[in-house]
Amino acid sequence: MKSYDISNPFFSNFPINPNIEWQMSRAEKYCLIHLLENLNPEYSIEIGTYKGGSLQVLSKYSKKVYSIDIDSEPKLSLENQFDNVIFKVGKSHNIIKDIVKEIESKNGKLNFILVDGDHSKDGVRKDIECILSCNLKYPLTVILHDSFNPQCRLGMKSVNYEKYKFIEHIDLDYIHGSFSPNKNYREMWGGFAIIKINPKIKKSNFKINQSQKMLFNATYWKSIHIIKDKLLFLKPLKKLLNL
Ligand SMILES: C[S@@+](CC[C@H](N)C(=O)[O-])C[C@H]1O[C@@H](n2cnc3c(N)ncnc32)[C@H](O)[C@@H]1O
Repeated sequence: MKSYDISNPFFSNFPINPNIEWQMSRAEKYCLIHLLENLNPEYSIEIGTYKGGSLQVLSKYSKKVYSIDIDSEPKLSLENQFDNVIFKVGKSHNIIKDIVKEIESKNGKLNFILVDGDHSKDGVRKDIECILSCNLKYPLTVILHDSFNPQCRLGMKSVNYEKYKFIEHIDLDYIHGSFSPNKNYREMWGGFAIIKINPKIKKSNFKINQSQKMLFNATYWKSIHIIKDKLLFLKPLKKLLNL
């Protein structure tokens, strides 16, 4: 059964390609389009290409995009559809630093990153740490998808942000998420966290804002995560047994 498309009806001048699956909610789509239309990045990086849903927006509003996926399929199927996108295949945290160096060597300005790849706690933490430890020279906006998912959120909270003095603003609930509207019964997904970086500032005491912390907590206690996340330690065993 085809899952219910929660973005309909959608009102925008942005020409969404209906043949490309885009794994974001209506609010997230509106937000991403508006954000990028206003930021107009010179260079953007996307972690998590998948079917190219978010990439179509990054491609339209950025001069050049690097899009990373651990799977080679997105590169193979999308390479001919976007002429300003360079596709990279591999684990994001092994690739990001080289991409940032490549942009720097071209005297390019990296202005936007979308993090939407590995959704485990450690995966999210590694992506953020990798980005923050790069030589960032220009104002940069980082959007992290699925901040409403408890594991992703833990990953986002586990970073020692104090180490990085150029962070201007963090909010884990820039756009808040919801229960998954489709088959994942009472799983919490979606939401955008934002990290705004400004290399000109040197700040040491800032706060990780969680503007919808109460909503997150209330939803968590009604969610499947109170059981499911406790069983995550069985994951390696399940993989071993091929379950
Ligand atoms: C949720 S999908 C991305 C959805 C897409 N951004 C969109 O809006 O439609 C996540 C993608 O991240 C990729 N991925 C998972 N772990 C990764 C990693 N460590 N490095 C790079 N890509 C990864 C997966 O193969 C998958 O295609």
